[in-house]
Amino acid sequence: MSKTIQKIGVLTSGGDAPGMNAAIRSVVRTCAYHNIECVGIYRGYEGMIEGDFKILDARSVNYIINKGGTFLKSARSDEFRTKAGRKKAHEQLQKFGIDALVLIGGDGTFTGGMIFNEEFDFPIIGIPGTIDNDIVGTNFTLGYDTALNTAVEAIDKIRDTASSHKRLFFVEVMGRDVGHIALNAGVGSGAEEILVPEEDLGLDRLLESLERSKNSGKSSSIVVVAEGDKTGKNVFELRDYVEENLEGYDVRVSVLGHMQRGGAPSCFDRVLASRMGVKAVESLIKGKKNVMVGTINNKLELYPIDKAVKGHSKIDEELLRVSDIMST
Ligand code: F6P
Repeated sequence: MSKTIQKIGVLTSGGDAPGMNAAIRSVVRTCAYHNIECVGIYRGYEGMIEGDFKILDARSVNYIINKGGTFLKSARSDEFRTKAGRKKAHEQLQKFGIDALVLIGGDGTFTGGMIFNEEFDFPIIGIPGTIDNDIVGTNFTLGYDTALNTAVEAIDKIRDTASSHKRLFFVEVMGRDVGHIALNAGVGSGAEEILVPEEDLGLDRLLESLERSKNSGKSSSIVVVAEGDKTGKNVFELRDYVEENLEGYDVRVSVLGHMQRGGAPSCFDRVLASRMGVKAVESLIKGKKNVMVGTINNKLELYPIDKAVKGHSKIDEELLRVSDIMST
C-alpha cells in the first residue's frame, strides 16, 4: 500500500514552453481542491538542491494561465546529474516534508526524475512540456501548438516581403533532433521545401525543387529548415550553396530562434495543461508513480516514464508527402 500523499512539489525544468504556467496553476489548484499542500520548487532541479521552495495556494497562481515562460523559472542543472547533487535534493525534499513530485519538462527533465526515483524510490509524475513535441507516449507536448502558431505567423510575414522582392528565404525554426515544428509550420505556411533532422532529403533535390519553382512562375520561395536538419548545412551555408549552384535567386536568411519559445499559450495549450495538471495530481493521489501524463487521441493516458525517455518520436511521413504535393 503506498504512502498517503500530503505534500506535492512541482517544478519546471529544461527549455521553457508556453503552457507551463497553466500546468503549474492546474497542479496547484488540484492540490488545493483535494486539501493537499503544494510546494513550488524554483529553478528546476537546481532549486531542489538548494531548497528554493515556496508553499503555493490556489491564489498564488492567479492570472498566470495566459502567461508565457514559467513563473517557477527553469534551469538545466549539472549538479543534479551527479549522485551527490541528487542526494542533496532528496535531503531538501525530506526536510520540507514533500512526498511526491510533479515534473514539467522534456526528455532531460524526465531522465533526471527517473534516476532520482531509482535511487530514492521517490514518487514522480511527468507532464510533457517542450515546444519540440519530441516525447513518446503523447501526441502533443505543452507549448508545441503555441510555438507552431508563432512560427507560422512569422513565416507569413516573411512571405510578404519575399514575394514583394521575388526572393528565396531560408527560415530556420527550432528542433535540434526532431522536425515536427519545421514540417508542420512549413506545411501551414505553404513552404516550397522543408528540411528536417530525421531524413536527408538531399541537396540535389533541393536545387531541383527550387529550379522547378522558379520555372513555374512563383514569385517567392520559402525553405523551412529545422535547426538540426540532416543535410548537415546550417541556413547560412545553405544560402551560400544555393547562390553558388543556382542562378537567378536573391537569397535571404531568417533565424526565428527563441521567439518560438515565448508568448501567450494558445487555447489548445492552456486546456491541455489544465487537464494534464489535474490528471497528474489525481494519479499521484491514487498511488500511481513513475509515469508521464500523455494525450493519445485526445484522451489522457499514463505512460511509463522510462519508455517516454528512451523512445524516439517519428516524423509524419504522410505529412512529408503532403508537403511535396503542395509545393507543385
Ligand atoms: O528543447 C527545446 C528547445 O527550444 C529546442 O528546440 C532548441 O534546440 C533548444 O531548446 C535550445 O536550447 P537553449 O535554451 O539552450 O538555447
